[in-house]
Amino acid sequence: MTQKKIKLELKHITKKFGKNVILDDVNLKIYEGELFAILGPSGTGKSTLLKVIVGIEDPDSGSVIVDGKDITDLPPNKRNIAMVFQNYALYPNMNVFGNISFPLRLEGMKKSEIEKKVNDAAKLLGISEILRSSVNSISGGQKQRVALARALVRDPAMFLLDEPFSNLDARVRFTAREELKRLRDSLKSTFIYVTHDQRETSNITTRVGVLNNGTFQQIDSFNNLYETPKTKWVGDFIGNFPMGFMQKDKTHLIGFRPEWAVVGKGNMTAKLVTNEVSGNTNYWMCETKGGLMIVLVGNKLLKVGTTIHFRLKKYNLYENDKFVKQVKSK
Ligand SMILES: Nc1ncnc2c1ncn2[C@@H]1O[C@H](COP(=O)(O)OP(=O)(O)O)[C@@H](O)[C@H]1O
Ligand SMILES: [Mg+2]
Repeated sequence: MTQKKIKLELKHITKKFGKNVILDDVNLKIYEGELFAILGPSGTGKSTLLKVIVGIEDPDSGSVIVDGKDITDLPPNKRNIAMVFQNYALYPNMNVFGNISFPLRLEGMKKSEIEKKVNDAAKLLGISEILRSSVNSISGGQKQRVALARALVRDPAMFLLDEPFSNLDARVRFTAREELKRLRDSLKSTFIYVTHDQRETSNITTRVGVLNNGTFQQIDSFNNLYETPKTKWVGDFIGNFPMGFMQKDKTHLIGFRPEWAVVGKGNMTAKLVTNEVSGNTNYWMCETKGGLMIVLVGNKLLKVGTTIHFRLKKYNLYENDKFVKQVKSK
């Protein structure tokens, strides 16, 4: 078996702004070639974490290691890590070519070499036609590609993207995600991107790190985050609807996804409060022993107040808020 190579390692990163602890002992290993998403609510320190990696913010303690080398004290321009900012940070007084070539001109690279690099990057990102356009006249999606191309021409060891899809129209977001995955596949480089929207992580990532309260609550495949959240908080946060939880005894909870409930006979009951219609599926918001929750999925509308009997074909067991095991019934 080949050993996976660690590209980036964060060890015990702590970052405070004044008295506010934003990052609290963050540990992370990213493997070469990963497309890794950092997911968390707004204000949890996702951007700050990227800035610590790229070197714009200094951590109060801890270390940043890339390719086995401690780079914590290196300035950003010596790190060879490219960051694409949330607002793309393009230079408005330069055209697309000027923007993409900027870091190369700064390095004093030969003109012919610059031409080649910019043309190659533009081709890869499908923006060859707009190289002479003003950046003020292009769409959000094109701006994003220009920012990516500007990062690409530097041949960085790693790409950091802060909320790369948030400024795009909802309709193009989906294809932009696929394009990012394709870009990673063709460059075979390592990408880390930040998002507060889990739909932007579910189908393209190698792994997702869920950041909250200054630290990673769980680092896992999206599927595992959904199926076996390690804490109640993660179960609440991941999924179109929060995981349903019911108390078993003082220290134990059971947690389940709506589609794990089988309606009909069963020793559990719930009283319908609302039909949540989503496409051709109905989610039934119910009052249960565990409180108000989306328990069940069906394809019909039920009358409010109906008592529903159900059983669980599987559930997760939690002890003192920590995942213990998944239990499946016949
Ligand atoms: N330079 C700064 N000075 C003071 N507070 C900051 C600074 N940058 C970020 N913060 C605060 O740190 C917290 C995390 O910010 P940020 O990393 O931007 O969160 P996220 O990207 O997850 O939304 C926020 O409360 C923000 O107000
Ligand atoms: Mg942010």
